[in-house]
Amino acid sequence: MIRLKISAVFADLALCCAAALPAVAADATAPLAVHQFTGSQSCASSSCHGGGTRNEFLTYSRKDRHVFAAGILGKGTSLKIAEALGIGDPTKAAQCTVCHSPMEAVPASRLAVRLQPAPDQKPVPDRGVSCEACHGAAGEWLLFHTRKDVNYQQILGTGLRDLIDINGRANVCVACHLNIDEPIRQAGHPELYFELDAQAMLEPPHYVDARPSLGPRSWFTGQAVALREMSWKLAAKRDERLVVRWKALVWLLQMTEAGAKELPSGEDFSAMQPAADRLAKKASRDLWTRSQVASQLKRFASSHQEFADAKTDRIEQRRRAELLVPAIDRLWAALKKEGGVTSPGFEKAVNEAAMLSHEQDDFAPAQFAEALGKLEAEFVSALKP
Ligand code: HEC
Ligand code: HEC
Ligand code: HEC
Repeated sequence: MIRLKISAVFADLALCCAAALPAVAADATAPLAVHQFTGSQSCASSSCHGGGTRNEFLTYSRKDRHVFAAGILGKGTSLKIAEALGIGDPTKAAQCTVCHSPMEAVPASRLAVRLQPAPDQKPVPDRGVSCEACHGAAGEWLLFHTRKDVNYQQILGTGLRDLIDINGRANVCVACHLNIDEPIRQAGHPELYFELDAQAMLEPPHYVDARPSLGPRSWFTGQAVALREMSWKLAAKRDERLVVRWKALVWLLQMTEAGAKELPSGEDFSAMQPAADRLAKKASRDLWTRSQVASQLKRFASSHQEFADAKTDRIEQRRRAELLVPAIDRLWAALKKEGGVTSPGFEKAVNEAAMLSHEQDDFAPAQFAEALGKLEAEFVSALKP
């Protein structure tokens, strides 16, 4: 049976448990049930977010893959997946729309009047991953969120999600981006991975966020949030494929200073969940200096000896590599952006390691170890004054 995540998408509440919620979400639990969705057209006018100076809507509708998320449900791969699962039309199947077009699952009572054209017609919700899937139902705050005498905290209290908080941001994306239920994957759905920093860049952003060390903070927070979600899922039900990913993520995060302090050892999913939550909150706040970024990157690169060690299971090695390469890549991106370093040699070495990490059944740990060793050497010489 496929477990639905409708509530995970629409109520911050359901992401896992109350303990793991950002503080603001807890305050917002009471009114959440009554917030109505107003639809993306209510954000789109040229005097609001679809115009000259404020063009979030245009960036989103022209460049963001989320616009197409519903459309692809009617196409080739989706039809094959749906057939294999025996779920009928994927554009109407809750197993798919829960992530690809979440408004479809919202009961009519939660759609604002303007989305309900005539009493005898069905309501027309937004398709795809719409504004309110991330920002929260706008029913209460839409009309007053631009007033000068209203502050951000007050708006959050009426259902706007705090996406400025990096932990809050990660919580929204992770609900759809971390993991796909095993039967859907086996039916041909791509496996999902969550890495907040690169995925936020790829979206691409329709906002300006130039805070210091945003990249490393997003990477670190995103991985800790992913660990919390996996722990929660595994504590409820063991799934061997996810256990291997979980172990690899614990391995990665224990190589960070805060992770080594915060995360317990051993395979205790219930103990890991709150620890990962604490780590995520800390990671979202702590700034990184240039030398901290550099020494963390060095620490990751120097893990090549562990890949040469044949004692660890090869599948687990691959899962480690799959997390390690993006970690190195994101830290490097930060050094480049905020520290002005360049090195074509290092970047070539990262690409080689990335290619090897993508080898699924053919993953060769010794070869990966060698590539990582080369990457470390390039890094050391890139940082030489
Ligand atoms: C847990 C959320 C989730 C569920 C449930 C889900 N998907 Fe997806 N799906 C995603 C995400 C996220 C991506 C994008 C993956 C990427 O490119 O990183 C995706 C990608 C896809 C793609 C590839 C899209 C492309 O552009 O190549 C297809 C096809 C697809 N999904 C179909 C389905 C179908 C059919 C179902 C229902 C059986 C379904 N999905 C259920 C989250 C989900
Ligand atoms: C996939 C999630 C997602 C979707 C979908 C989304 N946003 Fe955003 N949006 C964000 C994030 C993350 C931020 C950055 C945090 C912030 O500024 O609040 C943001 C920021 C904004 C901002 C603040 C801009 C700034 O520079 O301060 C506006 C306005 C906005 N979004 C409007 C929209 C509108 C309108 C839509 C629909 C057309 C939309 N968003 C869809 C995630 C999303
Ligand atoms: C309601 C579920 C949902 C939420 C919430 C969500 N996404 Fe997505 N996202 C999807 C689906 C489904 C797709 C696949 C769309 C497609 O390929 O047509 C996708 C695609 C993407 C892609 C393009 C994938 C690729 O490999 O090019 C990026 C990047 C992305 N999402 C980033 C984010 C970020 C960052 C956030 C949080 C701020 C976020 N998403 C929140 C469901 C979601």
